[in-house]
Amino acid sequence: MTGDLNIPVMKVLVATEKPFAASAVQGIRDIVEGAGHELALLEKYTEKEQLLAAVADADALIVRSDKVTAEVIEAAKQLKVVVRAGAGYDNIDLKACTEHGIVAENTPGQNSNAVAELAIAMMLYMSRNQFTPGTGCELSGKRLGIQGFGNIGQLVAKKAVALGMDVVIYTNEIKEKHQRWKATFSLEHLYSSCDFVSVNIPATPFTKGCVNYNLISKMPKGGCLINTARKEVVCEEGLDKALAERPDLKYATDIAPATYAELKEKYGKQIYATPKKMGAETAEANMNAGLAAANQIVAFFETGCTRFQVNK
Ligand code: 3PG
Repeated sequence: MTGDLNIPVMKVLVATEKPFAASAVQGIRDIVEGAGHELALLEKYTEKEQLLAAVADADALIVRSDKVTAEVIEAAKQLKVVVRAGAGYDNIDLKACTEHGIVAENTPGQNSNAVAELAIAMMLYMSRNQFTPGTGCELSGKRLGIQGFGNIGQLVAKKAVALGMDVVIYTNEIKEKHQRWKATFSLEHLYSSCDFVSVNIPATPFTKGCVNYNLISKMPKGGCLINTARKEVVCEEGLDKALAERPDLKYATDIAPATYAELKEKYGKQIYATPKKMGAETAEANMNAGLAAANQIVAFFETGCTRFQVNK
């Protein structure tokens, strides 16, 4: 039993193929052990079997983009709660969690600033010829469209304004957070009127392939699409076709398309993908998301708190 609350000692597994910064792991340990629980670490694993073995006796699980499939859930006989330390939870089989009575949570907003900074960095990188010789262009005075105005989209918008950009957001209803911004109800209009478009939407069955040829090919001359969301939201066939027809268009992404090698071969500097998803790869984001995940787990065991549950 833990301390005064007489809560059984729980085993909290942190399973991260892409590990948190050491300082964040220490912070997670302090929270978990400080609450009287046990911490187990599985980092940089390469085989699914390692995860299946590690989850067998875990009561709680913290992951990043690690795939928590139905098979993982089936193997995790003691699991009560899984927290995706991050925003997007498309890597978690929510149906399997629900069927096994497991609470699935995320930590919204905790790594948003890191992702927003990367979106801005990608715009600068692409507008300066990927830091190779040649004449580029400035962001100041250019128009940026934001597709997806959640935590990340809002931060991208604020930073872009500070750089002198004219920001337009896409929305289908004006809520309070939209009010001070120029908004459009038409995605076609967003793409056809913006020099840059930053995609900040989650990957869901509804958003899969939604950034298609029709939209990409509408971008003005020299248009640049920035994707720090998920590769699935961009239709690769449509992207291929648009880049082929329009040598002036550019695409930068934090999640390489499935056919990246082929696209890179064909389009060279028109396309850029980070070698490994790095949007949330900052010490600060690791700390924020990791500690939030640990605190959410401790609260779940202490009070039954499920504030950030995503499989309701
Ligand atoms: C998220 O959804 O929070 C980001 O894509 C970060 O993913 P990562 O934890 O795998 O870096």
